[in-house]
Amino acid sequence: MDPIEESKSRVLTGRDERRALTIPILTPADKDRLVHAYHPDYKKEEYHPIRIGPNAGERTVREVAELLESDSPVPAGLDLTPQYRVDVLVVGGGGAGATAALTAKALGADVLLVTKLRMGDSNTVMAQGGMQVAITEDDSPVTHFFDTLRGGHHKNDPHLLKVLVEEGPMAAQWLIGLGVLFDRDESGNLKTKKGGGSTKPRLLTCSDYTGLEIMRVLKDEVLNKQIPILEFSPVVELLTDPDGRCSGAVLKNMDNGRFIIVSAKSVILATGGSGRLHIEGFPTSNHYGATGDALVLAYRTGAKLAHADTFQYHPTGSVFPEQLAGALVTEGIRSDGGHLVNRNGKRFVNELDTRDVVAAAIIRECAEGRGVKTPSGRVGVWLDVPMIDLLMGDGSITKRFPAMVRQFERYGIDIRKEPVLIYPTLHYQNGGVAIDVEGRSNVAGLFVAGEASGGLHGRNRLMGNSLLDLIVFGKRAGSAAAKRAKSVPAGKLTLSHVTRFRKELEKNGIKPKRVAPIILPDYVRREAITPAALIKP
Ligand code: FUM
Repeated sequence: MDPIEESKSRVLTGRDERRALTIPILTPADKDRLVHAYHPDYKKEEYHPIRIGPNAGERTVREVAELLESDSPVPAGLDLTPQYRVDVLVVGGGGAGATAALTAKALGADVLLVTKLRMGDSNTVMAQGGMQVAITEDDSPVTHFFDTLRGGHHKNDPHLLKVLVEEGPMAAQWLIGLGVLFDRDESGNLKTKKGGGSTKPRLLTCSDYTGLEIMRVLKDEVLNKQIPILEFSPVVELLTDPDGRCSGAVLKNMDNGRFIIVSAKSVILATGGSGRLHIEGFPTSNHYGATGDALVLAYRTGAKLAHADTFQYHPTGSVFPEQLAGALVTEGIRSDGGHLVNRNGKRFVNELDTRDVVAAAIIRECAEGRGVKTPSGRVGVWLDVPMIDLLMGDGSITKRFPAMVRQFERYGIDIRKEPVLIYPTLHYQNGGVAIDVEGRSNVAGLFVAGEASGGLHGRNRLMGNSLLDLIVFGKRAGSAAAKRAKSVPAGKLTLSHVTRFRKELEKNGIKPKRVAPIILPDYVRREAITPAALIKP
């Protein structure tokens, strides 16, 4: 018998035995040992020193270190006459950018939203499982605070975290008011569900399309409010005034390759994460534009990064079929009772432990020979999805996970009947540009929101906290940016920070390995994105 089919049959026949067994709860010391031994964040050989800039002396993964030491794509002597003059420039067309733009606009600011691909192309739309908000009677922001702190290994910025949990219910109410259709029970009450590492059910969901539904509504609202949008126009460099304050940005039109200069009193970076850097060779669940742009743009202007050495490897990325390698299989499946099962048909971890622990346990199973090899040479363990129908009744998977059913159906796999093979996938940058509670970086005029920012999640984010993060801090950044714009004149536009950065590279004998922002990974055919694409990395 084919070894994959043989292993799969053990998953199917071992269900009763697995249900009768309880998975031992790991002690904090056990978890610590597990993540240190197997989680990619602890692979010392993958880490390199950061040699220049505000985080010099710290270590991060090679891919990020190279990004921070990259050269700017902007030539010295570029004509900086602005084509646009605005109060607030929002960079990024995902959930954080849309929220920031709407908030700034509501406060009377003249806003321009620019984005690398199309409005809405972002990790937001790929967030499936839900948004954490403490709204039930036996839950509270305090419980949410401590769950998140525990999940983040107590490294979360407590000020940011306090704001997140306290403003969660208001953020949900705002979204509902705009038209987001969260799931409700027969009485019309909001349904909640439990995510990994959480002690209470507090995920608001739109089946497994939560991020897509939120983005649908936010995008509609940006269009309703007639906020001008420039698509296919990534920011390739920021602009600063002679005192180092952020005063605008250089964009590149992906159709004709021309630079566009924008003067702005406040700039908000909401460009998302960095999964497409494929850190440590991992596949990713991220969209094609997730190339860590905010990290490099902000860093060159002198903005400090927080926790730039920690990344989230979502435990359940698809490994089969090959076309789905890295694609997210939502944590919601485990939340509803899907078992993780090794090659021998055994469960090996509490599926709802924090993501770093679950990912490390999966990597251990595979490293120690208890994984299943796919025909293309990947390795993974089983996620027994049909358990959900057994536990909750026939039809539950179809109803609760329509996106997942469709994702696999396209390749002839019926997740209602058979388990799927999974392995951790690069999902989220836990850190990013350090911000305060108003979304301010340490560079005046430069604000950051959403996944691009760092500090809130500590060293491991809990499921559903990113969707909440981008609403709460998108609003705060939008508001603070609009207020600043009211009180300052437009700054002079210079590239002096680039000149300074290039000198520092030279002084330290660093020959940049790449030019960044990267914009798109090398393997993306640019003509597939925009026919006349002339942009060069
Ligand atoms: O598993 C998921 O649905 C992912 C959610 C998240 O990262 O918050």
